[in-house]
Amino acid sequence: MQRISIFGSTGSIGINALKVIGANPDRFRVQYLSAGSNADLLTEQALALRPVAVAIADSTKAARLEQALQPQGIAVLSGKTGILELASRTDVDLVLNAIVGTAGLEPSIQALNAEKDLALSNKESLVMAGELINRLLAEKKLRLFPIDSEHSAIWQCLVGENEKNIRKLILTGSGGPFRTLPKEKFSEITPRQALRHPTWSMGRKITIDSATMMNKGLEIIEAHWLFHIPPKKIEVVIHPQSIIHSMVEFIDGSIKAQLGLPDMKLPIQYALSYPDRFPVSWENTDLAEIGTLTFEAPDIEKFPSLRLAAAALKRGGTAPAILNVVNELAVYAFLENKISFPDIPTLVENALSSIGITDKPSLQDILTTEQSSCEFVERYISGLKQTKGTRQK
Ligand SMILES: NC(=O)c1ccc[n+]([C@@H]2O[C@H](COP(=O)([O-])OP(=O)(O)OC[C@H]3O[C@@H](n4cnc5c(N)ncnc54)[C@H](OP(=O)(O)O)[C@@H]3O)[C@@H](O)[C@H]2O)c1
Repeated sequence: MQRISIFGSTGSIGINALKVIGANPDRFRVQYLSAGSNADLLTEQALALRPVAVAIADSTKAARLEQALQPQGIAVLSGKTGILELASRTDVDLVLNAIVGTAGLEPSIQALNAEKDLALSNKESLVMAGELINRLLAEKKLRLFPIDSEHSAIWQCLVGENEKNIRKLILTGSGGPFRTLPKEKFSEITPRQALRHPTWSMGRKITIDSATMMNKGLEIIEAHWLFHIPPKKIEVVIHPQSIIHSMVEFIDGSIKAQLGLPDMKLPIQYALSYPDRFPVSWENTDLAEIGTLTFEAPDIEKFPSLRLAAAALKRGGTAPAILNVVNELAVYAFLENKISFPDIPTLVENALSSIGITDKPSLQDILTTEQSSCEFVERYISGLKQTKGTRQK
């Protein structure tokens, strides 16, 4: 029986992870759960799974959780410190981190410091601190199992292969909801339109990242740190059906691909079952019904986020952390109608050329960069407001 912690259990990945675990009750025991602010769902999950403790980032929700869970013998922790405390518990075998965004970084580092293997959905951890995470994995002889569907696909394609025989990694992307929309129309895009992903059902932040294609940019950085492949050997191809989750091309010209329906339960389960596979009861992939698989090159002109992510990776140091934090804040600002859709990459580009970059960053350097990135975004958005105000006068 594997003892597991799930951070971000109330989100899209967290809920799917609990479905995988629920389908394998004799294989896993849930020790700890965490959420951001959804106390109701966290309570429901805790009463069903009976973890040792839960943590909620939003401390104002702690009293409600305590009332429901403490009489049942389930401890409640709160705030960022509560989550970090659970991430450092040693009575687990595997930590699954499905927290969204920058908030996932410190729990990932904490789990590795506690010498725990990590099943990682929070790609932002690797984007911000790939070098540091790889150092910890090597020093402590730990394993990192990717959950992102593209990286799970590459991982599966590489089983039994020799790294020296890889010509390139080919990340597939659906192209998002605006693949065919002319660039001139991008300034009219509303949050509601951007939240309508054509193939995947996901949390709000990653859905907007898919619409700007920053998600694919973050995945290039993630793939670099996971598979130790130089950026020039990582390519993106648009595949609107989202059936091929990614591919590896070898030096003899052979290309291996991993296919399946767009359902995150499969990559989550592979991360939990590796090196084994478990039989499943969910829908099978009917290739005859799917019929056609198509591919096209990404349009970098329309989606500058791809170019920005590649440039940040090439620059290294804290550049990918700046890219990640500024993008995240820009996404939330867009969702709150404070900036336009095209402002998201513009803000990231401006931040990358304005904020100082630190090489070989420590965790503290990355956290300091996070702070300066937040301040940059605040200044940028209040500048935009003033310009708008002046124009209206
Ligand atoms: N969804 C997918 O299909 C998919 C695919 C590949 C990779 N990923 C990656 O997986 C991660 C999670 O994505 P998602 O789509 O599952 O996101 P989501 O649905 O928004 O869920 C995010 C989870 O993080 C929690 N959370 C939010 N803010 C937090 C904070 N400050 N501190 C601690 N916990 C916090 C949320 O709690 P509340 O519910 O209480 O807000 C929720 O449990 C992201 O890094 C994403 O890029 C997702």
